Amino acid sequence: MPLRIVYVSTLAPDVSEDDIAALVDKAAAFNRAHGITGVLALEDRRMCQILEGPDAAVAALFRSIGRDPRHSGVTEIVNVPINAVTFEDWGMVRRRMIDMVVSAFALG
Ligand SMILES: Cc1cc2nc3c(=O)[nH]c(=O)nc-3n(C[C@H](O)[C@H](O)[C@H](O)COP(=O)(O)O)c2cc1C
Repeated sequence: MPLRIVYVSTLAPDVSEDDIAALVDKAAAFNRAHGITGVLALEDRRMCQILEGPDAAVAALFRSIGRDPRHSGVTEIVNVPINAVTFEDWGMVRRRMIDMVVSAFALG
């Protein structure tokens, strides 16, 4: 059964916009290859990410994200089994925070 994880974190001060763009590109490729989809939003240093996909793959990715020194205070706010993934086959995209909030309310 697919799993959804939503977490928040705070980006490290030295992480630039270019770093984020590179991270999202790399994440999108990895996620797509592992059947994971998700959305990431960033406002100032505050990060929120929704991850969905095969439970073992999502759990393993979240462990590695939790160890990533580019952010801190990684706090899981949702961890639920889902019937089907919500997002299209986009791997990982960045959205404005407001759009992420709207998608979060729309989740089944
Ligand atoms: C805010 C944030 C979000 C991330 N999201 C993803 C992601 O969705 N997919 C991914 O493969 N890596 C993501 N990463 C990168 C991972 O933390 C990690 O660098 C990647 O899984 C490679 O791990 P490794 O260096 O231990 O092999 C993210 C990193 C940060 C800081």
